[in-house]
Amino acid sequence: MNAGYTEKCEICEKSSWELILENQMISVCSGREILRDTPLAKAMCTNCGFVYTSRSPLDEDIDHYYKEVYSSKLRSDAYDYRNYSHGMTFSEVQHKFLFSHDFPRIGRMIDIGCGKGFFERAFAERYPEWEIEGVDPSVVSIQMARKRMPKAKFYNKKFEGKDYEKNAYDLVCMHAVLNRMSPRVFGQEVAAMLKTGGIFSVEIAVFPQAPFELYFADHKYMYFREHLLAIAEEFNLDFLNEDAKGSKWRFLFKKVPDAGSDRKEQLSAAAHRIRNKVKRIVASWHRVFEEVTKCKLEGKKIAFYGQGTTLMLVLAIVEFPKEQIAGIYDDNPYKVGEVVCGVKVRQPNEEIKQVEAVVLCAGPEGIPFMKKTLGDYSGTIIHL
Ligand SMILES: C[S@@+](CC[C@H](N)C(=O)[O-])C[C@H]1O[C@@H](n2cnc3c(N)ncnc32)[C@H](O)[C@@H]1O
Ligand SMILES: [Zn+2]
Repeated sequence: MNAGYTEKCEICEKSSWELILENQMISVCSGREILRDTPLAKAMCTNCGFVYTSRSPLDEDIDHYYKEVYSSKLRSDAYDYRNYSHGMTFSEVQHKFLFSHDFPRIGRMIDIGCGKGFFERAFAERYPEWEIEGVDPSVVSIQMARKRMPKAKFYNKKFEGKDYEKNAYDLVCMHAVLNRMSPRVFGQEVAAMLKTGGIFSVEIAVFPQAPFELYFADHKYMYFREHLLAIAEEFNLDFLNEDAKGSKWRFLFKKVPDAGSDRKEQLSAAAHRIRNKVKRIVASWHRVFEEVTKCKLEGKKIAFYGQGTTLMLVLAIVEFPKEQIAGIYDDNPYKVGEVVCGVKVRQPNEEIKQVEAVVLCAGPEGIPFMKKTLGDYSGTIIHL
């Protein structure tokens, strides 16, 4: 079975694929834009369960997209997403995790896909004597980063390993970036840039915790924890520590002379479970679409709790009519007041309990939090 793809899996290097999403004509960018009328396809490696985007509406235009269009977190200089599992913003969670590691007083670091420079500023406050660099193709992000941290060096371009010194860095970061880039190419390039003993800090969306990744056009690679650990090991990046909570997980690796092969074996042992989980994610999306379609056809008014990609996808794919939206709610103060489909996003309140059904638009760790807020709600609850 190769589903028409002959490329090797980036993780296990086998070339056998199964399509899990085909000709999907409505997809989404993590910047929250809905894309229509250009197909998205995702394929799963039938050996290790790694999922990759085999066809995306952004394929033709990816450089322009990151340079000029990509807008995740760019609504305002301070805008960030809230991480429900931690009760903080994503940046705060990232910084807390990274600073659990003790770095030497002097060093050199680079942040690949640095965005608006939140991390550079936080790092400089802790380690004022380090040399700090950041690279990002987004013009607006780099403008904001330069303002935020005038002392750091920022490069406004795509990251390419050849532009950077080898064996030169004590820390390389890729936070919320590796889902977009070839793990084999970047694993190799990052490992070459690090000094032995240097640290690689990664934050990635983990597929079982972030099922919305299935419909993401701008995320090319969908990881389980085992995939990341196996590819890191291949480039002698030894697992040090992790923060496995929420839809994005954080990892620290250390460059060593020989990382061994345990992680590869662990991936082989987990492959069957991973493939089954991927199939369950696909099935749970179909179930949500069916349940919301049923409400639509029965003329029910329903509420949506969680303003993000899941909400946008459900509304677009089901073609849910605006008149049947009883309300859209979110706990993130940055999102309250935004307008989606002509409906203003509100903080959850007692009104939400009066509607017949509520769709919880969140990953598995956000669901219990939302259910707690709903308290004694007795209507139908729909979620992935
Ligand atoms: C989700 S944002 C993360 C920003 C920041 N690291 C954070 O954690 O807040 C992803 C970033 O990756 C950048 N990016 C995309 N492709 C890139 C590439 N080829 N090289 C470097 N950065 C890239 C995007 O422009 C964007 O700023
Ligand atoms: Zn594979």
